[in-house]
Amino acid sequence: MKLLGLETSCDETAAAVVEDGRRALSNVIASQIDIHKEYGGVVPEVAARSHIEVVLPVVHEALARAGATWDDIDGIAVTAGPGLIGSLLIGTLTARSLALVHHKPLYAVNHVVAHTYANMLITERPEFPLLSLSVSGGHSHMLWFDGPLEYRLLGRTRDDAAGEAFDKVAKMLGLPYPGGPSVGQAALHGNEQAYQLPKPQLGSDSLDFSFSGLKTAVLRTLQAEVGGDFRTPSAELPARLTPQHVNDMAASFQRTVCEILAGRLHQAYQRYQPKSVVIAGGVAANARLRQEVSRRLPVPMHYAPMEYCTDNGAMIGAMGYELAAAGRAIDPLTLKADPSLAI
Ligand code: KG4
Ligand code: ZN
Repeated sequence: MKLLGLETSCDETAAAVVEDGRRALSNVIASQIDIHKEYGGVVPEVAARSHIEVVLPVVHEALARAGATWDDIDGIAVTAGPGLIGSLLIGTLTARSLALVHHKPLYAVNHVVAHTYANMLITERPEFPLLSLSVSGGHSHMLWFDGPLEYRLLGRTRDDAAGEAFDKVAKMLGLPYPGGPSVGQAALHGNEQAYQLPKPQLGSDSLDFSFSGLKTAVLRTLQAEVGGDFRTPSAELPARLTPQHVNDMAASFQRTVCEILAGRLHQAYQRYQPKSVVIAGGVAANARLRQEVSRRLPVPMHYAPMEYCTDNGAMIGAMGYELAAAGRAIDPLTLKADPSLAI
């Protein structure tokens, strides 16, 4: 079975053709990073407009690269939420129209859950029951999967998402958007023990996260280094930092986030004893996080290629396959975009 997976929930317009939920025959991603870089983050209206311009060319490119025509496609899977409403509307309306025009069944996919399915696109597929740490710019969730579509939430962030913390700290340090890769790059040249930042105390029973205090601690520490009163992040702060401040803070912050995430994952592993553990979402592309997780978890870890960690259509097609196998198609006329779609 070949599905077209379509993703437009944030600032990537992405489409892929996925075979049997496990092989991406194509994976086309039109990133808007260069557009939003100028503003230091995603501007929702600009994102929606950009999706409109490229969504059909991206779909056609995904079909072409897979060597497929519409006759070869058995259905369309699209992100229904959560995400930016304007961005979601472009993807869902496109998918609805394509489903009606080409007479294909349509599947509505939850973006947060779909990130975990990136790990089904690798040769050694993880087995159920499965524990997944899904961390990106919009969310940080610990998920439990009894089977492909039987999942529940074990813990989540109480404030900022992990990727959001990377993005905000990057801004404080004067590093370019998106923050994850640029903090990771700067960290390569820094001492990760230079600063001891606090870790949130949420109780030993909780599998929740919190990153807002860490972000504030970074600001306070930098302020103490350079003097001045930066109660809120300001453009003046990065100008006062030396390259060593930047690299050392990037490395120390990254280490702290990785220790928090890997620590929680280990705690959940011990409590629930899954057969496999995966990490997913944009932050799962972080090499330091992969290292920390592999060091702490007593199970062999298999990581998805980077292109499947950040937003992409292949993970949507992979989850769509499970919905198709379960006969859960949705009427194209009733599919609605839901910016706060729950798990
Ligand atoms: O999954 P994703 O592409 O989009 C959302 O669903 O949010 O994740 C984007 C987030 C951004 O916050 C970005 O800074 C972060 O993932 N990210 C990383 C890395 N690559 C992307 N964070 C840490 N290290 C990376 N290498
Ligand atoms: Zn995402």
